Amino acid sequence: MPRELLTVSAGQAGNQISGEFWAQLCAEHGIRPDGVVEDYPFASSSASTLGGSSALPSPSTASFGRQQAQYHDRKDVFFYQADDERYIPRAVMIDLEPRVLNGIRNSPYKNLYNPENFYSSPDGGGAGNNFAKGHAAGDAVWNDIAEMLEREAEGSDSLEGIMMMHSIAGGTGAGLGSYVLERLSDVFPKKLIQTYSVFPHMENSDVVVQPYNSILTLQRLTEHADSVVVLDNRALASICQDRLHVGEPSFAQTNQLCSTVMAASTQTLRYPGYMNNDLVSIIASLIPTPRCHFLTTSYTPFTSDKVEQARAVRKTTVLDVMRRLLQPKNRLVSTSFGSDAKSNCYISIMNIIQGDEVDPTDVHRSLVRIRERSLASFIPWGPASIQVALTKQSPYVRAKSAAEGTAPPPRVSGCMLANHTGIATIFAQQLQQFDKVRARKAFVTEYQREPMFEKGLEPFDEARAVVRELIDEYRAAEKPEYVDYGAPATNEAQDLRQRR
Ligand code: GTP
Ligand code: MG
Repeated sequence: MPRELLTVSAGQAGNQISGEFWAQLCAEHGIRPDGVVEDYPFASSSASTLGGSSALPSPSTASFGRQQAQYHDRKDVFFYQADDERYIPRAVMIDLEPRVLNGIRNSPYKNLYNPENFYSSPDGGGAGNNFAKGHAAGDAVWNDIAEMLEREAEGSDSLEGIMMMHSIAGGTGAGLGSYVLERLSDVFPKKLIQTYSVFPHMENSDVVVQPYNSILTLQRLTEHADSVVVLDNRALASICQDRLHVGEPSFAQTNQLCSTVMAASTQTLRYPGYMNNDLVSIIASLIPTPRCHFLTTSYTPFTSDKVEQARAVRKTTVLDVMRRLLQPKNRLVSTSFGSDAKSNCYISIMNIIQGDEVDPTDVHRSLVRIRERSLASFIPWGPASIQVALTKQSPYVRAKSAAEGTAPPPRVSGCMLANHTGIATIFAQQLQQFDKVRARKAFVTEYQREPMFEKGLEPFDEARAVVRELIDEYRAAEKPEYVDYGAPATNEAQDLRQRR
């Protein structure tokens, strides 16, 4: 029985990333932009163009059946089939302004989505970079959104969870996204909630109030999500610049990186027969304690990476991939892990290695080498182990590149999901910026106009306290005594909550 997942995206960043993610899933599962499934590449007449390899199975041989079985995918984890058999994404897209959703409605994928699953606010003005405004809109729009989510859940056999995509720095993805997170557990008390959350490029921002929105959202991500995958715009920009040699990356380019990594991180869910083939097993193995649930991702090789391509004269090994995944430059979270960098360590690591000819003994050898060379330091209170899942490549992606004469996908690629204490440095930077604007009381009147702040500015202090505790917990997790860690009796956030 499939363990289905449903995506809900909010705001500009959320919906743009969601659009890219679904396009990537379509490419990997051989689903055309209109939802019709393509012929299986090995059975198509263009089979002989598939890399020109003599090892290609002929459709008429018994080995074809085995190949096909081997590549059997689970489209139904993310898609359902309409009456006419077309595949439809289990996706709900919401925004308080129509522009981005109209863009998706007019894109080549316009016939892919269920049109009933788009929600854009009738008054259409957006939340103007104001968390409190986006959050306040929640009351008015929640019934409509809940109805869409419930309809999708009812159409599933066994919905496992909900993945939310949004940015934490604007008004809609942050504020309305947080409202949705707060309410999801009412409607779906037993479902896993995972978010893909875009963190702002702090040095590159001209929006003064972003730290307010970020800290208010981080509070909700801490309290209401089971797992948060951090996509850091600063790291995404430097990967585009340093690795892909794109001077001023557009959102379309950074979103492509996001969708590649998001698709890779869901690979084990979409191909049966491997480890970690449901979300709960991935979350359980990466997140040993509930609040430290913010994950970083790394990926290699990024396809148009010229440096990696120059190296392609030699054969990329599993060890190369596993070593690169541990290098900060391949992380989608900013690499300057601060002055505490020495004490930073991994709480857990899961590598998803993709390749058709990966030998499990290579994986074992690589793990031994990584341990011998101490390439990854781990928390002192848990097992220092890297989990590895092996998956196949999509035959559709390979067939497409052969048909179009573009570079074939790399022989081996890898995605790392990790729980790393250095993530707290990003939260600390956000907090520092927050304190600066808060001390100046910059733009607070904009927030005081919204119901959340009508009694005062305490919601800011409460959010700050929750984020401070989160940072402290990550710091504590670097020490052996963490096993005895509990919320201190004089818990600042609890005090505040009780006082209100
Ligand atoms: P309002 O428009 O204020 O109602 O909220 P929103 O949720 O639509 O805002 P948006 O998603 O634009 O959030 C702003 C933050 O997201 C800034 O840090 C932007 O740099 C970032 N951002 C916006 N669009 C994208 C995108 O497509 N990709 C990425 N990676 N970041 C984006
Ligand atoms: Mg917007």
